[in-house]
Amino acid sequence: MHSIALYNLKGGVGKTTTAVNLAYLASQQKKSTVLWDWDPQAASTWYLSGAYGPHKNKSIQLLQQKKPVGSLEIKTPYPRLSLIPADLSLRKADIALELTKSPRRLFHRLIEPISEYASFVFHDCPPSLSPSVEYLLCCSDIVLVPVIPSPLSIRAVDEVVAFFNSKNKKPKKMLGFFNQVDLRRGIHKDALANADKLAINMLETWVPYNSAAEKMSKKQAPLVSYAKSGSALAAYNKLWKELKTELKAL
Ligand SMILES: Nc1ncnc2c1ncn2[C@@H]1O[C@H](COP(=O)(O)OP(=O)(O)OP(=O)(O)O)[C@@H](O)[C@H]1O
Ligand SMILES: [Mg+2]
Repeated sequence: MHSIALYNLKGGVGKTTTAVNLAYLASQQKKSTVLWDWDPQAASTWYLSGAYGPHKNKSIQLLQQKKPVGSLEIKTPYPRLSLIPADLSLRKADIALELTKSPRRLFHRLIEPISEYASFVFHDCPPSLSPSVEYLLCCSDIVLVPVIPSPLSIRAVDEVVAFFNSKNKKPKKMLGFFNQVDLRRGIHKDALANADKLAINMLETWVPYNSAAEKMSKKQAPLVSYAKSGSALAAYNKLWKELKTELKAL
């Protein structure tokens, strides 16, 4: 099983949008895929299960080791794509971790059962660098970082890289890609031209700023599940292809 964490310390850069679309594309390849929502905002959960409700305020029970992962996992409307939903209780993730002797081992133990049946797990991370996020990133195969080509978003990447450089345990591989790109803007053009100067390796694929991606929240479904054409659809397909190549090379 391959695990991919969608992460950036900066909020609103496209972690959830990307996680939902890539998880859908993975499941379309006849591969069992799990999207694990770790963000108390629960946006991935909302995208993939509009009628979600009965498990409310239960997500934290996984970290409290009161429930096995399978008891919370739910089906989505899409074959082979399941969801481990989030809710507001996850705001207590770090308190739950403080009560654990080995948080690192806890994360491995939580994720391990999924590897028995799933080929891919996508983690939708919250925009923070709390201890729980740190452990999650360190046990993922690839940390995929959406970066808006603007100084503040790039600065957030620098901060994360500097943070992990000061630690013994680091993510195995961090890869970025530019998201919400508007090449009419000089600042975006410059950032793309200087991609090799960023603190992490950037994938070739970039996702354009596209109102179709924004409208995904109206449809409450992965864009790639209903769009027939368009630059966002093409970009997510290309991103998935490039990510698969990176996963194969691990
Ligand atoms: N390529 C894109 N073009 C246009 N809008 C986009 C694109 N990608 C994401 N968005 C929009 O940007 C906003 C933030 O996206 P998203 O929720 O995926 O970010 P996030 O990083 O998960 O945010 P948070 O840090 O709050 O979890 C949403 O309104 C989304 O529809
Ligand atoms: Mg999000």
